[in-house]
Order: sequence, then C-alpha cells, then structure tokens
Amino acid sequence: MLRLRRTPSPIIRITHWIGALSMLVMIGSGWQIYNASPILPFTFPAWATLGGWLGGGIAWHFAAMWTLIGSGAIYLIYGFVSGHFRRDLRPQEPQAVWRDVRLALRFRLAHTPGRYNAVQRLLYTAVLIVAVLTVTSGLSIWKPVQLGWLTWLFGGYDIARRMHFAMMTLIVAFLIVHIALTLIVPSTLFGMVFGRRPIASESETAR
Ligand code: HEM
Repeated sequence: MLRLRRTPSPIIRITHWIGALSMLVMIGSGWQIYNASPILPFTFPAWATLGGWLGGGIAWHFAAMWTLIGSGAIYLIYGFVSGHFRRDLRPQEPQAVWRDVRLALRFRLAHTPGRYNAVQRLLYTAVLIVAVLTVTSGLSIWKPVQLGWLTWLFGGYDIARRMHFAMMTLIVAFLIVHIALTLIVPSTLFGMVFGRRPIASESETAR
C-alpha cells in the first residue's frame, strides 16, 4: 500500500545531520590516528585526514564520538519508540529488494516522499547495524581494561581493532553510494533538510 507522508520527523532529520557530520569527523580523524600506526600496507593521504598530527586526530575523534553517540542514541530510541523503524525501515522480502535493484540499475526506481524503497530499507538497516558495531568496537579498543568484557566479545584487542577498521570501510562504501544517490535525486536532500519537498517531485524517478 502506498502511503504518502511528507516529512521525515524533525528528530530524525536533526539527529541524522548531527550524526552524519560527526561520522565524517570520526572518519577523517580516525585516518589520522591510523596513519600513526598502520595495520595495512598503506596510509591515508594527509589531505584526507583531520587533526594535523596524532594528538590532534585523537582530540577530534573523541570530541565527535560524544556527538555521534548522543545523536545516535536519540535517533535509535526515537526510531524504536515512535515506530519509525518498524514502519519505514523494516527490510522487505528478497523479491522486493531484487525488483528494486533491477529498477535502480535501469535508473527507473521511483522515489516517493515519505516512503523508502526496498533497497534503501536494506541499506539503512545494514548501515545502522554497522554503525553500532563501529562504535562498540571503538569503545572496546579505547577502554580494553574497563570494558574488558566488550573487548573479549570482539575476540580480543587485535581483532577488535581490525573489526573497527573493517566497519569504517563499510561505512565509507555506504557513504559513496548514499551521497551519489542523493545527488541523482536531489529532492531527497531537500526533504531531509527541510522536512518537505517541492510539490512537483511527489513521486519521481531517478533517470
Ligand atoms: C554526509 C553526507 C550525507 C548525506 C548528504 C546524506 C543524505 C541523506 C538523505 C538525503 C536522506 C533521505 C533519503 C530519502 O528521503 O530518500 C538520508 C537518510 C538516511 N541516511 Fe544519510 N546522508 C549522509 C550521511 C549519512 C551517514 C554518515 C549515515 C550513517 C552512517 C547516514 C544514514 C542514513 C540513514 C540511516 C537514513 C534514513 C534515515 C531515517 O529515515 O531514519 N547518512 N541521508
């Protein structure tokens, strides 16, 4: 059934944007921290990092951690309590995902305000799980003594650190797709910023 609701609620929009900005700061400063002690045979270019040096990177990383955890907690609690996740983000059956993937590949996927398609639902649910794993694995390598049980759950410090890096990589991959889709259908950006879209784009197809 098609439901037309014009707005993502203000709480979703505000926490999305605070979380998105925090996430970008976490990524740039995280790359700075990684460069001081790489676990893979490469480092990130200086222009893509934040903080200027290890200490600066750590300061940015911990500052953004609090805004990310704060906005993320409000988003998750509101998402569950208000029914937003159940209504709007619950993944659909595989046939619907496959149908929407094929439509998307042919640039024929409709974007209806207030209703996420099957691909969006799947991606958003997945990235929220990945974001929680990124934060918890990060906490486990920040406080491996006080949060020893968490570090243990991730299989120890070394595995937790690799997990943290792998989850960051998934978030960057998501962001590339997410931002590309936003640019292809800019009215979604308008909606996510202002809560409503130009009337002309009530239902539009990315083509
Ligand atoms: C920084 C650049 C970002 C831009 C330009 C952006 C843009 C958008 C837009 C336009 C929407 C609404 C899509 C629609 O109505 O069809 C949206 C929703 C969403 N975005 Fe982003 N986003 C960004 C960063 C992020 C990050 C870092 C994450 C998580 C790691 C994220 C996760 C989500 C989720 C989960 C939703 C669905 C929100 C809901 O309704 O509960 N976004 N984003």
